Amino acid sequence: MIHTIFISVDIAPLAIMWRWEILLKRGLPSYVKVVEVGPRDGLQNEKSIVPTAVKIELIQLLAASGLAVVEATSFVSPKWVPQLADAKDVMKAIQNVHVARFPVLTPNIKGFEAAVAAGAKEVAVFASASESFSMSNINCSIADSLARYQDVALAAKNLAIPIRGYVSCVVGCPVEGAVPPSKVAYVAKELYDMGCSEISLGDTIGVGTPGTVIPMLEAVMSVVPVENLAVHFHDTYGQSLSNILVSLQMGISTVDSAIAGLGGCPYAKGASGNVATEDVVYMLNGLGIKTNVDLNKLMIAGDFICKHLGRQSGSKTAIALSRITAPVPKL
Ligand code: HMG
Ligand code: MG
Repeated sequence: MIHTIFISVDIAPLAIMWRWEILLKRGLPSYVKVVEVGPRDGLQNEKSIVPTAVKIELIQLLAASGLAVVEATSFVSPKWVPQLADAKDVMKAIQNVHVARFPVLTPNIKGFEAAVAAGAKEVAVFASASESFSMSNINCSIADSLARYQDVALAAKNLAIPIRGYVSCVVGCPVEGAVPPSKVAYVAKELYDMGCSEISLGDTIGVGTPGTVIPMLEAVMSVVPVENLAVHFHDTYGQSLSNILVSLQMGISTVDSAIAGLGGCPYAKGASGNVATEDVVYMLNGLGIKTNVDLNKLMIAGDFICKHLGRQSGSKTAIALSRITAPVPKL
């Protein structure tokens, strides 16, 4: 009897832990590709223009942290996004950095040609699931944007350049409110069918919760293979990590994030920064999911850009780790 009590007291917490681990980890990938969008999505929304040399150093630090993909800049109209008017110079400076891939945003064939001439080896087009946001962000309807992107996709195919497709406003739009999952699925499938090998689903204004993200993902996953999907969350309501966790549980293994939680879209009023890369990597480390990203080195990149911008990091992990002295790997 004494023996039985001893065993049940000793084993029970472990058994509970194992049960939770099994439940939590069900369906989770063993590796997640983190797509760093800070130098593009992050800096496009800064009030003051960040010097080109600072952008270049930031990209180099991010690549040195082990990130496989760092979205470097955009070849958009400098009248629309003056913050990234130095795209050509940024690309020129990172031509010899080979440890990461550096895709760039291209809104039309003009941007695509400029990007390729500047040395870009991967591009991304960006459509919206909301008509109003499409008009305010790229000055055309969803249908017109898809027609433009057909041209870009064809040109990319001819040069064997991989192309990513973004869908913005996948759960909510600043003007139209709730966006139906069927609309997101339609735009995602159009991008996939024209040749985009990865479709990134963006909660541009950060209003999603697992309650809205799950039905949206279910709709998209019924028309685009899950291995071709990525998620892109903004943290306006603090929901990003829970949204990422449910996305991973549904089979997604590519996650966009921005160093120090930088970012937002100049044409999406009220949107806050992207989910912070440091927070994503910390969570994935905790789940035992491989990323190949060194959190200590990531912190150096975050610290560098925050010092330059003169403000505190938007990453809770970065703030917490900067206050303690224990080495990160022991946590
Ligand atoms: P438009 O004014 O309709 O374009 O803008 P246009 O064809 O009438 O041309 C007007 C001028 O822009 C002309 O110059 C063109 O040559 C020039 P002008 O004759 O007046 O001197 N132009 C260009 N210049 C450089 N590069 C180009 C280019 N194209 C035309 N590629 C356009 C249409 C799409 C160009 C414009 O609306 C634009 O650049 N929008 C980009 C806005 C943007 O970058 N937004 C942020 C990124 S999207 C996002 O943040 C969401 C995402 O992160 C996902 C998420 O968070 O959910 C991806
Ligand atoms: Mg974004």
